[in-house]
Amino acid sequence: MPFDFDAVVSRRGTGCVKWDRPEEGVLPLWVADMDFQAAPAIIEALHRRVDDGVFGYALPPASWHESLARWLAKRHAWTVDPDTILNSISVLPALAAVIRAFCRPGDQVVLQTPAYNGFLHVIRDQGCEIAGSPLRRIPAKTEGDFTYEMDYEDLDRKLADPRAKLLLICNPHNPVGRVWTADELKRAGEIALRHGVFMVSDEIHADLQMPGSRHTPFATVSDAFPAASATFWSASKAFNLAGLQTAAVICANPAIRAKIRKAQVMNGTGDLNPFGFLAASTAWDRCADWLDALRVYLHGNYQTLLEFVHTHLPRLQVATLEATYLAWVDVNALGLPSGELAHRLEQQAKVKFAPGSDYAEPPGSAFLRINLATSRAILLDALNRLRKG
Ligand SMILES: Cc1ncc(COP(=O)(O)O)c(C=O)c1O
Repeated sequence: MPFDFDAVVSRRGTGCVKWDRPEEGVLPLWVADMDFQAAPAIIEALHRRVDDGVFGYALPPASWHESLARWLAKRHAWTVDPDTILNSISVLPALAAVIRAFCRPGDQVVLQTPAYNGFLHVIRDQGCEIAGSPLRRIPAKTEGDFTYEMDYEDLDRKLADPRAKLLLICNPHNPVGRVWTADELKRAGEIALRHGVFMVSDEIHADLQMPGSRHTPFATVSDAFPAASATFWSASKAFNLAGLQTAAVICANPAIRAKIRKAQVMNGTGDLNPFGFLAASTAWDRCADWLDALRVYLHGNYQTLLEFVHTHLPRLQVATLEATYLAWVDVNALGLPSGELAHRLEQQAKVKFAPGSDYAEPPGSAFLRINLATSRAILLDALNRLRKG
């Protein structure tokens, strides 16, 4: 069945962070959700559930973990025992629980920068410090103008600090768009293992591979990693279900799983809502064709961005996008700090992008993160506003 990603869905006035926060008239290409309707099978399943008319406390059936395990096996060649999966009300509360399980206030969480801003907030909110290991910028190998690689020497230094208690890998990486290879994950993980640091791999964007690109689950690259790591997984990014707040923590180590579960209970998080697990299992069981069509559309949007920038804004540079729908654009040549540029673009050009300053961009540089998950017509309108701005 064909899916119409060109359809413009009106989201203003629907209680929507992305569209209702900026003032009327501003095109919002910032927070990471998509302007597309969910897959038809998900909408139907939710309609049927609404028709039950009773929404008391929910008990996720065992089948929701089985759906995820089947999806991981089929899509990502990763065999996961459904009994090793914990529920979480979205990913960030899972991160808070893992930090609570492993760290005391003042301890450090090592992550690679630039970094997803939600990580930065949660780590600080738990009273911990961020030990940022800057990714190294290198020339692009495929589409795009530049890309990044890990700095293993720096990771080694950061992980050697006795205060470092967790390594948080973003796989694939938001905001730089890298899909880490098995070799890269293995090298980084082996350093953490050598220093006795527990590892967390956030794989929320894993299903959003650009066509031709392939996800490697962190836990699959070394026999030693499953027992020494936890992976966050969710249908929320790829299937646009973030508002239903449902995620999973996969952890093969029973003692550590119990520790994380205990921290979830202490944080008062962990129980799911009935719409969330229904939507997620429907996505994994029945919506692979929708996802594959989406990925082709998103790649078309990425190519549209590249072509537009190279033609009309040649002083900007775009990072290679291997996965996610979040483009990372170097706007240093415009001579303004990213926060100020984003503010001016919102006020004057009526287009809202996320400034690199939210994502621990390198000091002295300026980036914008552009959310490409919208209809091509809106994307082109936004890019024209950027050009005029
Ligand atoms: C890498 C990453 N992890 C986690 C999240 C947030 O996930 P959740 O809404 O499930 O807390 C996001 C949202 O953009 C993200 O990009």
